Amino acid sequence: MFRLKIVPPIRRFCSSSIRYQIINQANKQTISLSTTSTTSTSKTPNHTTPKLELNKLAQICAQVIKITGPISLSAFMRLCLTHPELGYYTTRDPLGAKGDFVTSPEISQMFGEMIGIWLFTVWNSQKKPKEINLIEFGPGKGTLTFDVIKSFSKLVQTLKHEELKLNIILVETSPILKQVQHNLLSGKDLDTSKEFWEAPHKWNGKITWVDTEKDLWEVTQQQEANYILAHEFYDALPVSQFKKTEHGWREYMVDHNEDDGTFFLGLNSQRTPSSAIPETNPRYSSQNLDSIVEISSELHSYTSEIVKLLDRNKAQNGAALIVDYGPDLEIPGMTLRGIKNHEFKSPFEDLGEVDLSVDVDFGAIKESATSDPSCQIDVFGPVQQGDWLHQLGIQFRAEQLYNKAKNDEEREIIKTGYHRLVEKDDKSMGHIYKFMALLPKGGPIPVGFGGGVEE
Ligand SMILES: C[S@@+](CC[C@H](N)C(=O)[O-])C[C@H]1O[C@@H](n2cnc3c(N)ncnc32)[C@H](O)[C@@H]1O
Repeated sequence: MFRLKIVPPIRRFCSSSIRYQIINQANKQTISLSTTSTTSTSKTPNHTTPKLELNKLAQICAQVIKITGPISLSAFMRLCLTHPELGYYTTRDPLGAKGDFVTSPEISQMFGEMIGIWLFTVWNSQKKPKEINLIEFGPGKGTLTFDVIKSFSKLVQTLKHEELKLNIILVETSPILKQVQHNLLSGKDLDTSKEFWEAPHKWNGKITWVDTEKDLWEVTQQQEANYILAHEFYDALPVSQFKKTEHGWREYMVDHNEDDGTFFLGLNSQRTPSSAIPETNPRYSSQNLDSIVEISSELHSYTSEIVKLLDRNKAQNGAALIVDYGPDLEIPGMTLRGIKNHEFKSPFEDLGEVDLSVDVDFGAIKESATSDPSCQIDVFGPVQQGDWLHQLGIQFRAEQLYNKAKNDEEREIIKTGYHRLVEKDDKSMGHIYKFMALLPKGGPIPVGFGGGVEE
């Protein structure tokens, strides 16, 4: 079976450009940002424009700012993305041609199949642990987990007599997407009466849904090996932005203009408590004057949970695969963008109706994964998606599917899907998406990151 697809632009590169305003509070100078250039103008917000009508979430945000003063960018992003009733992710299924963006698992089944093969090679090299959890952070429609397990279990079956207890754990904030995931991966007996939703899955095991990484410890056991996937998840985590000024690190805050109703970013003239992070961490403090950096405390929280889950299994089994867009190991600067209907939009308009996304700081994931001396972790990558998929053999799978296709339409879908995933020019997914793996220390180098397949 082939999934029929229209191919809209991907999330990292939408078709329109984006502009929003940043105001330096010290000198009231407005910086107008676009995705391609940063220019400085002397304009302040236009107070003669008619006042914007605020939606419910924007009213809440404006009220909070009125009471507490400007809020951090991370607080603003958290509110917009995951407010329980009005947040972007909590209120919709945003994926697909009819939604706001399309992702690799939705483009072609080959993407998840290659990750399923990778998982099999790692599991096999770890002497085939019998009790495993497949944990996915931010599973969207559940398509990646579906394709991964389909190809992983086919490979496990080739070993014959292999007993395997496989449970799925999904970390998902959206009740709507939880339902979509249940339909695809289970379809029956959804139990919502307990603290965590549960249902049987299609491969003889259990699915458990949790809301955040903090619940994972409770729903996993020491004897289980945890295999963790995070695809286009880290880019949805809130970030704070800081600038290194001659007075020290200063934080960009979200403010609200009551006259025209607009939200905007302003550089705080005073130090905030969060300034301590870039001040004390050499990765940031060594940056040049005027550097702007993005820092995500949630990135650290999710990464340290991954590390704890890998360390928990005393047989040293388990692995995590993180796939997203971002620079190799450098620190992202001002990368926040809004996305709606496959186009870039200001992140400060239509609050809760626009997806917010940033470039992922793979260097920070690496630093966080290796910072706890009591948990010994090896980090591999980042490796560009096109290279990784080719090392896993996507070209052979594409050829196989192409030869089995029933008609020209199916052949075209396979060909287009393959090229979209692997092409490596600057604006293609094969170049901008990266793979990073975290494994218990001392194991073989995994395939896709320079290692071979162990028999
Ligand atoms: C960009 S979508 C990616 C979906 C899927 N991984 C894919 O690639 O098709 C982000 C996913 O993460 C979930 N999500 C976003 N922020 C989250 C958070 N703070 N906690 C848990 N889930 C979150 C969203 O609901 C959605 O399922």
